[in-house]
Amino acid sequence: MLSIISLYVATISAICFICLVLRRRNSSANQVILPPGSKGFPIIGETLQLLLPSYSLDLPSFITTRIQRYGPIFQTRLIGRPVVMSADPDFNRYIVQQEGRMAEMWYLDTFSKLFAQEGEARTNATGMVHKYLRNLTLSHFGSQSLRESLLPHLENLVRSTLLGWSSKDSIDVKHAALNMTIEFVAKLLFGYDCNKSKERLGEKFSHISQGLLSFPLNIPGTTYYSCLKSQREVMNMMRTTLKERRRASPETFRGDFLDHALKDLNTEKFLSEDFILQIMFGLLFASSESSSTTLALVLKFLSENPHALQELEAEHERILKSRESPDTPLTWDEVKSMTFTLQVINESLRLGNVSLGLLRRTLKDIQINGYTIPAGWTIMLVTSACQYNSDVYKDPLTFNPWRWKEMQPDVIAKNFMPFGGGTRQCAGAEFAKVLMTIFLHVLVTKYRWEKIKGGEIVRNPILGFRNALHVKLDQKD
Ligand code: HEM
Ligand SMILES: *[C@@H]1O[C@H](CO)[C@@H](O)[C@H](O)[C@H]1NC(C)=O
Ligand SMILES: *[C@@H]1O[C@H](CO)[C@@H](O)[C@H](O)[C@H]1NC(C)=O
Ligand SMILES: *[C@@H]1O[C@H](CO)[C@@H](O)[C@H](O)[C@H]1NC(C)=O
Ligand SMILES: *[C@@H]1O[C@H](CO)[C@@H](O)[C@H](O)[C@H]1NC(C)=O
Ligand SMILES: *[C@@H]1O[C@H](CO)[C@@H](O)[C@H](O)[C@H]1NC(C)=O
Ligand SMILES: *[C@@H]1O[C@H](CO)[C@@H](O)[C@H](O)[C@H]1NC(C)=O
Ligand SMILES: *[C@@H]1O[C@H](CO)[C@@H](O)[C@H](O)[C@H]1NC(C)=O
Repeated sequence: MLSIISLYVATISAICFICLVLRRRNSSANQVILPPGSKGFPIIGETLQLLLPSYSLDLPSFITTRIQRYGPIFQTRLIGRPVVMSADPDFNRYIVQQEGRMAEMWYLDTFSKLFAQEGEARTNATGMVHKYLRNLTLSHFGSQSLRESLLPHLENLVRSTLLGWSSKDSIDVKHAALNMTIEFVAKLLFGYDCNKSKERLGEKFSHISQGLLSFPLNIPGTTYYSCLKSQREVMNMMRTTLKERRRASPETFRGDFLDHALKDLNTEKFLSEDFILQIMFGLLFASSESSSTTLALVLKFLSENPHALQELEAEHERILKSRESPDTPLTWDEVKSMTFTLQVINESLRLGNVSLGLLRRTLKDIQINGYTIPAGWTIMLVTSACQYNSDVYKDPLTFNPWRWKEMQPDVIAKNFMPFGGGTRQCAGAEFAKVLMTIFLHVLVTKYRWEKIKGGEIVRNPILGFRNALHVKLDQKD
């Protein structure tokens, strides 16, 4: 322990010294006015304050207190790096559309350790790597493949999952929904078969999601340590699959994500086995964490708003009635006609701000409101802040899915970015929405359910539940 402290003190002294020297050398340079704010302690910066959970649906107090003190654009320090946070809707939209010109996507150290040991390709966000990956992702999860092949599989998945839930006394929604998403996405990615595999992928990803944005202290016993351990196990399992595929004969080509990537291994120079593994890991994470949290939120809000649940049930009963036979599989047109369902999902995404904000790194100096944000800094666009704007959303803290009926598209575009925007918009947005829509369809037509306990929201700053939301499902007769 003592050695850790002395190491820490030594590092801080060294850094302060270097800063002093640099500042003296630069003092004659042009004066640049940085956005207001405090930087906290060196290294740890204000990370700890941001990590202090705020037990409410309201903005993390870290951000609200600073918006009050400094205005919507202020600077702080996260995990040792200067970060400018912006809750200004116009500026946020501007930056999102400047992708590759003024700013690019960037991950915190914790993320880059998890996703990109070979960081170069990841940080060089512009160019063909991104284009290639986006195309590959969309061709397996995009709306065309949803319409042409995934729809019936998703419906079967949801039906068998919910049947399993109804045989239990109590279901932890977030946990079980994460399990469901992981199993399905892993199957599309590398043919994972939960019936054959001994690895419990769902369990592993629960550990991983708990370790994200935890303080990166890699010693046994910490959340971060168990997160990295689970990550290694998942990677090893995928590596085994990948090696088997490379040895197998071409006739066994099944056309999943891994097969496509391996086929391109010789033609796309930036691809490597490790890179493919990291991308698959990133996709497993990106798809499961946010979708399962959103599903749990939807169930929480519905259980608190019986009125909305009634209207939702009516919408889906109407769909069943207009069919020849109630047991035919869902069609694409039916999915697209579930307007109220989408309003419920939008409203849950808005209230939950499942993604707190988007991280970008500035490529050039950016002028805003008389301040300069220097090149190389990280900007966190707190897009969620606009989702509580009372000028746009009346009674912003109430769950009111009906409000979406009257919203204008341009107002939505500026004040609602749950899936990001611009060229970096979430590649799985359509997949996530269809998955949730089908889930709600089967849930409200086949089952009655009640909340048993839990469901209090906590944000640290990734959205989660202080005590997991538990429900009990019963089949309708
Ligand atoms: C409710 C569920 C989801 C939410 C709220 C969500 C949110 C987001 C957001 C906000 C971004 C943009 C990040 C940025 O601009 O900095 C993003 C990117 C991305 N998401 Fe999602 N996501 C969800 C589900 C999914 C699913 C199911 C998949 C995969 C099947 C997925 C794959 C991706 C990918 C690949 C990107 C990167 C896109 C790019 O860089 O071009 N997401 N997501
Ligand atoms: C000093 O100025 C140079 C360029 O003028 C800049 O790249 C560097 O970040 C500055 N250093 C400090 C400590 O401000
Ligand atoms: C979502 O974000 C907004 C603005 O950042 C905030 O006011 C709200 O409390 C957040 N919701 C949750 C559940 O944290
Ligand atoms: C970024 O990508 C370009 C090609 O698109 C490449 O020439 C350049 O070396 C890359 N830079 C880094 C830092 O990886
Ligand atoms: C991906 O690229 C291929 C060939 O370059 C193209 O045929 C296909 O339509 C693209 N897919 C998507 C979803 O953009
Ligand atoms: C996760 O899914 C698998 C396969 O569907 C199932 O066997 C397992 O019980 C599930 N675990 C949880 C915690 O729901
Ligand atoms: C696992 O087995 C069950 C029951 O036999 C089946 O319904 C399900 O589709 C199988 N899962 C996979 C991924 O093959
Ligand atoms: C839900 O939000 C999206 C933006 O993410 C918007 O395009 C869509 O029109 C909204 N849906 C409804 C039913 O309001």
